[in-house]
Amino acid sequence: MATRQKSAKKDTARVEVNNETKSEAKSRSSSKPNGTMEPAKGKLGVMIPGMGAVATTFVAGVEAIRKGLAKPIGSLTQMGTVRLGKRTDGRSPKVKEFVPLAGLDDLVFTGWDIFEDNMYEAASNAGVLDYRLLEQLKPFLSSVTPRAAVFDHNYVKKIDGPNVKKGKTKMDLAEQLREDIRDFRKTSGASRLITMWCGSTESYIEPTEAHQSVKSFEKALRENDEMIAPSMIYAYASLMEGVPFANGAPNLTVDLPVMLHLSRQNEAPICGKDFKTGQTLMKTVLAPAFKARLLGLSGWYSTNILGNRDGEVLDDPGSFKTKEESKLGVLEHILQPGLYPELYGNIFHKVRINYYPPRGDNKEGWDNIDIFGWLGYPMQIKVDFLCRDSILAAPIVLDLVLFLDLAKRCSALRGLGIQEWLSFYFKSPMTAPGLYPEHDLFIQLMKLKNTLRHLKGEELITHLGLEYYD
Ligand SMILES: NC(=O)c1ccc[n+]([C@@H]2O[C@H](COP(=O)([O-])OP(=O)(O)OC[C@H]3O[C@@H](n4cnc5c(N)ncnc54)[C@H](O)[C@@H]3O)[C@@H](O)[C@H]2O)c1
Repeated sequence: MATRQKSAKKDTARVEVNNETKSEAKSRSSSKPNGTMEPAKGKLGVMIPGMGAVATTFVAGVEAIRKGLAKPIGSLTQMGTVRLGKRTDGRSPKVKEFVPLAGLDDLVFTGWDIFEDNMYEAASNAGVLDYRLLEQLKPFLSSVTPRAAVFDHNYVKKIDGPNVKKGKTKMDLAEQLREDIRDFRKTSGASRLITMWCGSTESYIEPTEAHQSVKSFEKALRENDEMIAPSMIYAYASLMEGVPFANGAPNLTVDLPVMLHLSRQNEAPICGKDFKTGQTLMKTVLAPAFKARLLGLSGWYSTNILGNRDGEVLDDPGSFKTKEESKLGVLEHILQPGLYPELYGNIFHKVRINYYPPRGDNKEGWDNIDIFGWLGYPMQIKVDFLCRDSILAAPIVLDLVLFLDLAKRCSALRGLGIQEWLSFYFKSPMTAPGLYPEHDLFIQLMKLKNTLRHLKGEELITHLGLEYYD
């Protein structure tokens, strides 16, 4: 018996050696990078419209990590690895060692907000982070003060503030934002910039003629067209300055032909929309499991209570509709009722968000899921996620900042416009016109890591794995 075990072990060892040799040869032959990738030299300037709970939790977090006070938990760029070659190769570098990302020490920040609070005051008001941590970061956070915002109360009905730009036309406001961008580039000494929308959710609108081309958009800016939302003016200003733009809210913002055109023309990558943080993260993990096992779904009722400013803004029906659309799209795309009518052809899907001040940023999201199995027998699943909204969002912001900057430095990505490989981070991922989005979190992760492998000329991982049994 002992001898049999020994010889079996020897056999396995031989298989591994054989596979290693084959895959080593393969990785050697395929490690030619696709395109060029400029190094991350100099400072990266991060510009944030909306210095609220998410933005301050992100910036405070970066500073806490730089000071060695905390760890970047939840961040793929900081803690994640990417497997290269065969399972037997033992090559799994950290993402940040595999591709040239900006280091946290090189990040510098600015932002815009309708309130005059600096980042220390805004973070204190948001109430996400412990005051003892904030005290240690106070000098740094106090130094980040908001620039005057481009704001339109009609788009965010529940709030109003004094720190707002004035201009005769929306084009004047866009020019002022462009001037802010140029000023920050100069005064911060940043060699590269990116813009990350962390502003409030704007009222629901649909694209119009004004959003179809650069010409019609610029005409609409000059004529103060009411269909141009403030977030679009920030996006236009950024893209005109060649600065990549990410959209953390569910607003249309860059999801428009005009923005896609500007993004491609000026090689300023775009991505969005709506950070995938709590309830939708769970949805895009559970729904693929049901589909994988061909379990049917009859209903999914999701409700939330939250008490932060985001919750207050979403209490307005116009802003809620924007969020609702973003949250509802997920199931249909994952479950594909057209392909599986008996399982997913008749789903009751409801999403509610209730503003409940006592909870602050600590949201509670409940899901009641009615599924059915073998012979149609019904079952139920209940999820109660007591999460912290901005704690989940901050690492997403960090990863997007670093990956968008990488995209701008990669010849294979910067002219593409939409960065679909960053779908992993969004509730409503942007795609090329006519393409349905991938919502399954694990497909999204594979897409992201395969994109990194592709850029570096590494073999893509397909999980076929037959070669292990040759
Ligand atoms: N987990 C999450 O926290 C999460 C997940 C997905 C999406 N989001 C979205 O991210 C955004 C930020 O969330 P938050 O919790 O930080 O909200 P928040 O209310 O704390 O912060 C938003 C800030 O944006 C400012 N603002 C609004 N309009 C502006 C404008 N035109 N220009 C400049 N500033 C403007 C507000 O004054 C406020 O300070 C929201 O749209 C939210 O829906 C958050």
